[in-house]
Amino acid sequence: MAKGFYISKSLGILGILLGIAAVCTIVALSVVYAQEKNRNAESSAPVPTLPDTTATTLTTSVDASKPWNQYRLPKSLIPDSYQVTLRPYLTPNEQGLYIFEGSSTVLFTCNEATDVIIIHSKKLEYTLVQGHRVVLRALDGSQPPGIIRTELVERTEYLVVHLESPLTKGKQYEMESKFKGELADDLAGFYRSEYVENDVKKVVATTQMQATDARKSFPCFDEPAMKAKFNITLIHPNHLTALSNMLPKGDTPLQGDSSWHVTEFHTTPKMSTYLLAYIVSEFQKVDSESPNKVLIRIWARPSAIAQGHGNYALNVTGPILNFFAGHYNTPYPLEKSDQIGLPDFNAGAMENWGLVTYRENSLLFDPQISSISNKERVVTVIAHELAHQWFGNLVTVDWWNDLWLNEGFASYVEYLGADYAEPTWNLKDLIVLNDVYRVMAVDSLASSHPLSTPAEEINTPAQISELFDSITYSKGASVIRMLSSFLTEDLFKKGLSSYLHTFEYSNTIYLDLWSHLQMAVDNQTGIQLPAPVRTIMDRWILQMGFPVITVNTVTGDISQEHFLLDPESNVTRPSEFNYLWIVPISSIRNGRQQENYWLNAQSPLFKTAANEWVLLNLNVTGYYQVNYDPENWRKIQTQLQTNLSVIPVINRAQVIHDAFNLASAKRIPVTMALDNTLFLSGEVEYMPWEAALSSLNYFKLMFDRSEVYGPMKKYMRKQVLPLFNHFQGLTSNWTVRPPTLMEQYNEVNAISTACSNGLDQCKLLVSSLFKEWMRNSSHNPIHPNLRSTVYCNAIAQGGEDEWNFAWDQFRNATLVNEADKLRSALACSNQVWILNRYLSYTLNPDYIRKQDATSTISSIASNVVGQTLVWDFVRSNWKKLFEDYGGGSFSFSNLIQAVTRRFSTEYELQQLEQFKMDNMDTGFGSGTRALEQALEKTKANIKWVKENKEAVLQWFTANSQ
Ligand SMILES: *[C@@H]1O[C@H](CO)[C@@H](O)[C@H](O)[C@H]1NC(C)=O
Ligand SMILES: *[C@@H]1O[C@H](CO)[C@@H](O)[C@H](O)[C@H]1NC(C)=O
Ligand SMILES: *[C@@H]1O[C@H](CO)[C@@H](O)[C@H](O)[C@H]1NC(C)=O
Ligand SMILES: *[C@@H]1O[C@H](CO)[C@@H](O)[C@H](O)[C@H]1NC(C)=O
Ligand SMILES: [Zn+2]
Repeated sequence: MAKGFYISKSLGILGILLGIAAVCTIVALSVVYAQEKNRNAESSAPVPTLPDTTATTLTTSVDASKPWNQYRLPKSLIPDSYQVTLRPYLTPNEQGLYIFEGSSTVLFTCNEATDVIIIHSKKLEYTLVQGHRVVLRALDGSQPPGIIRTELVERTEYLVVHLESPLTKGKQYEMESKFKGELADDLAGFYRSEYVENDVKKVVATTQMQATDARKSFPCFDEPAMKAKFNITLIHPNHLTALSNMLPKGDTPLQGDSSWHVTEFHTTPKMSTYLLAYIVSEFQKVDSESPNKVLIRIWARPSAIAQGHGNYALNVTGPILNFFAGHYNTPYPLEKSDQIGLPDFNAGAMENWGLVTYRENSLLFDPQISSISNKERVVTVIAHELAHQWFGNLVTVDWWNDLWLNEGFASYVEYLGADYAEPTWNLKDLIVLNDVYRVMAVDSLASSHPLSTPAEEINTPAQISELFDSITYSKGASVIRMLSSFLTEDLFKKGLSSYLHTFEYSNTIYLDLWSHLQMAVDNQTGIQLPAPVRTIMDRWILQMGFPVITVNTVTGDISQEHFLLDPESNVTRPSEFNYLWIVPISSIRNGRQQENYWLNAQSPLFKTAANEWVLLNLNVTGYYQVNYDPENWRKIQTQLQTNLSVIPVINRAQVIHDAFNLASAKRIPVTMALDNTLFLSGEVEYMPWEAALSSLNYFKLMFDRSEVYGPMKKYMRKQVLPLFNHFQGLTSNWTVRPPTLMEQYNEVNAISTACSNGLDQCKLLVSSLFKEWMRNSSHNPIHPNLRSTVYCNAIAQGGEDEWNFAWDQFRNATLVNEADKLRSALACSNQVWILNRYLSYTLNPDYIRKQDATSTISSIASNVVGQTLVWDFVRSNWKKLFEDYGGGSFSFSNLIQAVTRRFSTEYELQQLEQFKMDNMDTGFGSGTRALEQALEKTKANIKWVKENKEAVLQWFTANSQ
């Protein structure tokens, strides 16, 4: 699926900095996880609204030997093609329900004789024909086996057809059925999305199949390896447009009722069910043709298209498609590429073949209102989804356990595609902050898990759903980037292209990619690997975590060890590689690049003379952290404080990031990490500042309720003042934006850091901008880039008037980018009662869309004032939240993380343990792992605060003078 659950990665990154406390941090940190995540199909299932009268509910014991009680399909029947006709009703029926009617014929081959047909079906109500839900025919015209009975098995989501005698191996059959389903607003399967335009409620019928909801739209063999061809037909009101994966063949009035039209689409190529899409709406489009004659169309609400909000997406899609066609050495596989922005969408976007669906904020861009980070999000999400059109759609993993390959790969190459469309933005550097560092925070816990999971451990929809996490996306991206870096990108592309050509229209496991990369290595002279690709990569994907490389520059010794954020945590998961890795190491000595090296015991590369330092992991292409002897650390610090340009900008971020992590793990004193931030008074680049602010955010979370916070704020004011002045000058007193993307990001850092740490000039700046807006609400004088931080800080400083004004603006916002900024800024208030009222609004879908509820609650929780409110709220309403918002959905893990992030006392630990006990019966769904992580993290925080508080207080006091 696509990326970004609540807000973009880039917005997330900015979020970390946004002013007041960590308001946006949680949102930010929650983001990355969420790339392309859909709701857990199983545990969130509400009571079916169209119950099948004869449905079998397995309540007590389940006979696991029966194939219909197993979650994986038997291999006895293989689909060839489907004819699916669907008719969604966009107005409610007499019972007030929105429904769709459908009929479907599946043509399949019998691969092994069997007397039972097992096909996925979820919440569909069938029309009986001679007492049965299906009609079976043999394609050769012979008499097929008779049907004894059909049943629906809810637990495993099957329609089961019991036959009098077996189907014949090698023969083809056709099975037909007619059914109804609810067009619910549950964001899964065939569902409805609503919006208001010109005061009229509009309904869109749309789909989200990944991972396991195609079965909720029509009966199908709903596993990614069960590829087939699809003939989709939509019956729809004649003033609306019907879209699907392919272009329409034709469009004729419905016989007997010409207010409906029948749109028949071309047969798809062989593809997986989870990539199907069909949409009926009154949306409009902008279009163009790529140089390779691919029709490109961007669809959205008519008013959004009329205002030009689809133009940026249209501008970048052609170049990105061309880039990937070249990168993969394979033409775009379809005739057209539709992309559509939907008002209600659970994931960030979904790569349906030829018809990609997006949240509006990931596709639409308004030059007047959207910020540069909104724009970055649009271009990177588009690149991500288009990357899947080949990698994922043309070649698909065999089963969900290899999801990491699909998503990790797309999360890496999205940077390449986006960089091609916006070559001046240096987007490729951002993977280090957005993916590598963000996932290291999770992967350094003892509760982490390996990238790759054995296929047999992933069976239920809930298990599949849980795979959509930051390890899958961001660690996947990080290790694939490392692989591409040590192979070189050219070689990587050669292997990739042969992989895609070999497996097009079929399925693979990750080892297939490794073997094609190995062939490329074997065909090329001049590349030296210490081991085959597979042997190297096994260590990165089959064991969790990553190494810390320790260098002693006195002796030249270099060694590795599994890096754990909490050194006293116990790793219970055994590894056949004993937590050792085969590590590619690049380095510089006094600014000069040294030859590449594969980790071994000792090397002259790392032994230094008195006036020399070394620094490892250039541009952080390796997925590991680095520690040095104290002397080398001090030399690096001196270098940074005298002439920082000798060290590449990404490595200036690395020095800060790694040091804070090493300090957390008690490998270096916390004061040494803090010393690494001293050079920031002379730093104007984004990446080092960003690394520092996200590292120091932990200090803020631990100490913003304690006496450490005063001196800490004073130190931050001192460090940020030159940066604030730098941007004030560069922007002619904040009236124009600086030229580059990174500068624009760091301008926001400067303001949010200055304001949240109480720099008077900054407070004045934001409150006067906001007041000016309040004086004339029809003219917003605040530049889109600065809005998040200005809103947040102005609301924090302000009272009821500011909040109410912002709330009205939120209610009236027509662009989701603007609404999102206001929505998270509203959580910045310092007034308990205002936050409490806001919290109550989050559960009212008329105020806050359901899709935004948990992220809004998380924003409130990340405000130091709101956190206790939210914790009380979550504790007392867990059951209701879980029932109403689909427990097991991805957002629950974000919520748990958000609300527990500050936990650092024994009392809070007790409360958390109590919470776990009290709600065992209700359960935590896919928030289960987050809860375990929160418990672990709280224990680590308690220890950390105990051990470091005094030293940190002293350091900030001494260095804030
Ligand atoms: C789908 O259409 C193709 C091409 O017209 C046809 O060969 C195939 O049999 C159709 N499939 C079904 C199940 O009707
Ligand atoms: C799209 O491209 C056109 C032509 O280059 C340009 O004029 C326009 O400003 C671009 N639109 C956006 C939103 O980038
Ligand atoms: C790790 O195991 C030791 C010994 O069994 C135990 O004392 C310690 O509490 C455990 N640490 C954590 C973080 O669970
Ligand atoms: C490191 O990244 C910078 C910025 O993207 C780039 O200019 C430089 O070439 C990279 N260095 C290496 C050794 O790849
Ligand atoms: Zn994806």
